[in-house]
Amino acid sequence: DVAALRGVERGRVRVAVLTTAQYVVPKLLGAFCASHPGIDVAMHVGNREALLQRLAANQDDLYVLGAAPEHLDVVTEPFADNPLVLIAPPTHPLARARDIDPQRLAEEPFVLREPGSGTRSTAERFFAEHGVSLRVRLEVGSNEAVKQTVAGGLGVAVLSAHAVAAELALGELVALDVRGFPLLRRWQLLHPAGKRLSPAALAFKQWLQTHRPTFPPAAGE
Ligand code: PGA
Repeated sequence: DVAALRGVERGRVRVAVLTTAQYVVPKLLGAFCASHPGIDVAMHVGNREALLQRLAANQDDLYVLGAAPEHLDVVTEPFADNPLVLIAPPTHPLARARDIDPQRLAEEPFVLREPGSGTRSTAERFFAEHGVSLRVRLEVGSNEAVKQTVAGGLGVAVLSAHAVAAELALGELVALDVRGFPLLRRWQLLHPAGKRLSPAALAFKQWLQTHRPTFPPAAGE
């Protein structure tokens, strides 16, 4: 039966996930490991550029990534939504404003992720398309550091809604109602096309698909 089969599953899965998916995938590991005791999981967390390098060097079995670059031969499956929100401290003058023009953000100091971050490049692309050049106050290398500096009043930032769900629910941060936001991104599960997934990697991929996270509640809802 299925339970007996699971009991004899053996193997190791190397998975690499985006820093944004870090708020989603590790949570699912506990239950997966409990029901697949013979499977060891090694998880690497990195930004988009770092994961693309790992993918090109064939370092992992499975990736939780955004859109795959066209020149790489990969197998992709949609995984979950990764909406990006514009966050500010609750005391921000725009906290209660509705339908804010993106141009208005030109006056605001921004906290940005490091170069190589997909979150950063998506935010930069959005504002460039709206003719807004961002006033970059600070550049920091993690979602956690971005959250802390925004909460501390240094500026506003664009982050994954998954990364700030707890702070938004607690009212420690607010999502500004800027026209065009949330920016809609999606995570994919992918692996190199030439690589056959091991039974352990397949089991983990199926687990992720059946336990995919849903869109987090937006601020104010
Ligand atoms: P990153 O992850 O900002 O850490 O690169 C998010 C993404 O690329 O969607």
